[in-house]
Amino acid sequence: MRIGIIGTGNMADALGGRWAAAGHRVLFGGRSPERARALADRTGQSAGTLRDAAGFGDAVLLALPYDAVAGVLAALGADGGSAARPGARRLHPCRRPRLPAHHRHGTGAARTIADATGARVVKAFNHLPDAVWRRLPPAFAEGPVAVPLCGDDPAALERVATLVRDLGCVPLPVGGLDRAAYLEATTAFLIGLWHSGHDPRSLLPPFEAVTAPDRG
Ligand SMILES: NC(=O)c1ccc[n+]([C@@H]2O[C@H](COP(=O)([O-])OP(=O)(O)OC[C@H]3O[C@@H](n4cnc5c(N)ncnc54)[C@H](OP(=O)(O)O)[C@@H]3O)[C@@H](O)[C@H]2O)c1
Repeated sequence: MRIGIIGTGNMADALGGRWAAAGHRVLFGGRSPERARALADRTGQSAGTLRDAAGFGDAVLLALPYDAVAGVLAALGADGGSAARPGARRLHPCRRPRLPAHHRHGTGAARTIADATGARVVKAFNHLPDAVWRRLPPAFAEGPVAVPLCGDDPAALERVATLVRDLGCVPLPVGGLDRAAYLEATTAFLIGLWHSGHDPRSLLPPFEAVTAPDRG
């Protein structure tokens, strides 16, 4: 698969490197040509501009701080860039759990980006830090990491599911893009727990226990 990556930071490095190792063709696109070139050289892949990345792929990973997304997409679309062409690209936003206006209103970042661009957005890879995606494979005692996916386009979802499997993870479709805001909020919640020293797994008894509690 051809994968354009918009951004040259930690997520671009972690995911792009793994996809390159899995045999995909990756183009790293950044505002810094040096950083894009460094990633490309290290992984044996290509480097280019943000616009090059938006137009390169069968899939596009959007790996920018959320605050930068609107400006970058507007710049790409304002002069004919493919990232903003309705239906032209699949954008896979990743974000940290700051809660700007779209969140407070319940829309979510992924839905906002889809509405703004017409792209077949799939929400993915947001709930764990880049260190996990760099693991070979991303697996723990419980097994391979499951990657929740939200999206409305079946073909785009399947394409992202392939990319999840190629990391050694398990795709976990959890609904349409209207549910992506829950995923974003869950990530914020999880990070809060981890950073305050709590294990989120302690919140999650087995399904049998919550559906048929022992009243003994
Ligand atoms: N890292 C994680 O563990 C993690 C986990 C889950 C989700 N996420 C989310 O994934 C996204 C990327 O995170 P990251 O850790 O990869 O971030 P990062 O290491 O800070 O990299 C951000 C990238 O965005 C570029 N950028 C920033 N502002 C820009 C602008 N105005 N125009 C063009 N490019 C701009 C940066 O370019 P320069 O290098 O030129 O500054 C850099 O290439 C974020 O939304 C984050 O919340 C991250």
